[in-house]
Amino acid sequence: MKILVLNGPNINMLGIREPHIYGSNTYQNLIDKIQDYCDKKGVDVSFFQSNHEGALVDAIQQAYFDKIDGIVFNPAAYTHTSVAILDAIKAVSIPTVEVHISKVEERDSFRQISYIREIAIKTITGKGFDGYLEAVDALIINNESKN
Ligand code: DQA
Repeated sequence: MKILVLNGPNINMLGIREPHIYGSNTYQNLIDKIQDYCDKKGVDVSFFQSNHEGALVDAIQQAYFDKIDGIVFNPAAYTHTSVAILDAIKAVSIPTVEVHISKVEERDSFRQISYIREIAIKTITGKGFDGYLEAVDALIINNESKN
C-alpha cells in the first residue's frame, strides 16, 4: 500500500511557529515519526510539503499517476480557502484523511470552514503529530475493506 503525506503552508516551520499551538517538534521530527510508523506497518510512504497552492494541486494530480492508495493531508491555511484543492482531490478520487495538529474547532471563526471536509473520509483534529498516525491507520482500514 502506498500513502502520500501532504502538508500545506507553514508546516515546514513546525518547532518555530507558535509552539504553544503546534508544539516544539520540527517538520523533520514529524516525517521521522510517520516514516517509523509506516515502516512498522509495512506501508510505502512518501512526503511532500509546499507553501504554494498550485504545487499542492500538482502533487495531488501526480498521486493519481503514481497509483497512491491514500493521502494523509494537512492543507493548513488552504483548508479554509481552497476550492482548487477540493477539486483536485475530487478529480483523483484517492481516499484522503484531513489532519490538523491543533483543535481547529476551538480556534478562530475563519478556521471553522473546511473546503476538503466534504470529500475527506475522516477528519482528525487536535491530536498533535499522533493525528497523522491515526490517519495512516484509517487509510489502511479503508484499503483493506476494498480488497
Ligand atoms: C492547521 C490549522 C490551520 O488553521 C492553520 O492555518 C495551519 C495548521 C493545523 O494543523 O492545526 O497552518 O492545519
